[in-house]
Amino acid sequence: MNLDDLISGVLDSRVGKSVAAKAGFPEATVLRRGEAFPSGAVALGTVEPGSGSLVADALAALGVTAQPALADTADARSTDADGRQRPPAYPGRLGAIVVDATGASRIGQLEQVRAVLRPAVKALEASGRVLIVTADPATASEVETAAVRQALDGIMRSVGKELRFGATCNLIQIADGTTASELAQVLRFALSGRSAYVDGQPFMLSPLPPVSDQPLVEAAETEPGLDKLDQRGGRIVVVTGAARGIGAAIARRFAADGARVVAIDVPAAGQALAGVANETHGTALQLDITAADAGERIARHVVERYGPDARIGALVHCAGILRDKLLANLDDQRWASVLEVNLAAQFRINDVLLDPDRPGGVPDGGRIVAIASTSGWAGNRGQTNYAASKAGVMGMVRALSAQLSDRGIAVNGVAPGFIETDMTASIPVIDREIFRRSSSLLQGGRPVDVAEAIVFLADPATPMNGQVLRVCGQLIVGR
Ligand code: NAI
Repeated sequence: MNLDDLISGVLDSRVGKSVAAKAGFPEATVLRRGEAFPSGAVALGTVEPGSGSLVADALAALGVTAQPALADTADARSTDADGRQRPPAYPGRLGAIVVDATGASRIGQLEQVRAVLRPAVKALEASGRVLIVTADPATASEVETAAVRQALDGIMRSVGKELRFGATCNLIQIADGTTASELAQVLRFALSGRSAYVDGQPFMLSPLPPVSDQPLVEAAETEPGLDKLDQRGGRIVVVTGAARGIGAAIARRFAADGARVVAIDVPAAGQALAGVANETHGTALQLDITAADAGERIARHVVERYGPDARIGALVHCAGILRDKLLANLDDQRWASVLEVNLAAQFRINDVLLDPDRPGGVPDGGRIVAIASTSGWAGNRGQTNYAASKAGVMGMVRALSAQLSDRGIAVNGVAPGFIETDMTASIPVIDREIFRRSSSLLQGGRPVDVAEAIVFLADPATPMNGQVLRVCGQLIVGR
């Protein structure tokens, strides 16, 4: 047994857990995952004057009957036997509180947010949700309104750090013209267990790209020479790095929704790749994405396996590598390999697949999602190369989304924090334990948590474009 295994064993043992508890480290809660909504009541608090019924309508569209939130106001407080003022209390556990702060424009109105959150956070169930709905500070016409909207971001991040037992707090910034059904799409994700590891995160909404007349996937049913599996319906989704870890979880998650998955990984991972392709009823493409003709080979595979008119509904850039070294020891090889796989290869593949006339490419209305990393925001000791590549992915997402919006193609990113995979198993165990404990949820995320965020962003109904969503359990600060 090596030292890592030994320490890991001690930390996971009953004795280790009891020592940790005595030292004041609470145990992590098993998070609610999947489609399930909170089991307790959902309360809706409105910062007055409200801006209409958008949030209430979005909740109603989800079939959620929200009850009015209690507010800690002078009138609502009671006095206990010792003469102390008590805020009003919910009779049972709350599943979620949604605060409609879309009408907030004055500093004094922030008190209303405190007032509705105070009783709610005390009553929140395990894996409960606090969601604050506002608008983008950048679109405010008055300085005070911008300050108030930004203040809500500060409230959200702090509440996220205070909540216990797997409960999370996120902010939703609507755009001009956001409809109730668009907001419902985001609330569905944010309330459900699909967002289990998304915490302390602003969701910035944008208008949905115009709907294209061109179907995303042409029917392949009539194509001769295609085997039975390839003739299933469903969107074609290309996932790089799909042989294991997060990429394999993404492939499985899309397949569960009925997508036809093209799973890509290096030839050395061919056996594991074939396993994922079989399991997902998809197809495998053994390909090093740094190959000069990688884009052409992907397009050719799509056409060969799914028919001459087939197009990619969603392209997920997941393949990535680590070659960590302090900059003082970082040679040109470690630099080049990380920048090549994590960033430059995506550019070459995009260039080919985004050609509107390319059979097997990404048509108007398609979706691209790329995996960044919180290291790209926060920086990380020993990861100059990796952080450069992942910050580069974020820059690519923003710029490319702007370029492609008139084709109705949305480009978004996901920045995972510490996710339990083979890649992070190579990190020394003490560091791993520090990462877990540093998250507001006291644990690392699972590959499925990243996969859920990718599927959400790749959904044509999701009104987000040019955004990078953190899936990090609030391990870092930053946008
Ligand atoms: P992993 O190492 O378990 O899987 C990565 C996959 O990419 C492997 O199957 C590998 O063979 C494949 N790959 C590597 N180079 C390739 C190439 N040139 N061509 C084709 N495939 C290639 O990694 P994990 O943890 O699943 O990470 C997936 C993505 O998520 C990566 O981009 C990683 O940087 C990112 N990420 C992971 C985090 C974590 O905590 N696990 C945190 C932040 C980001």
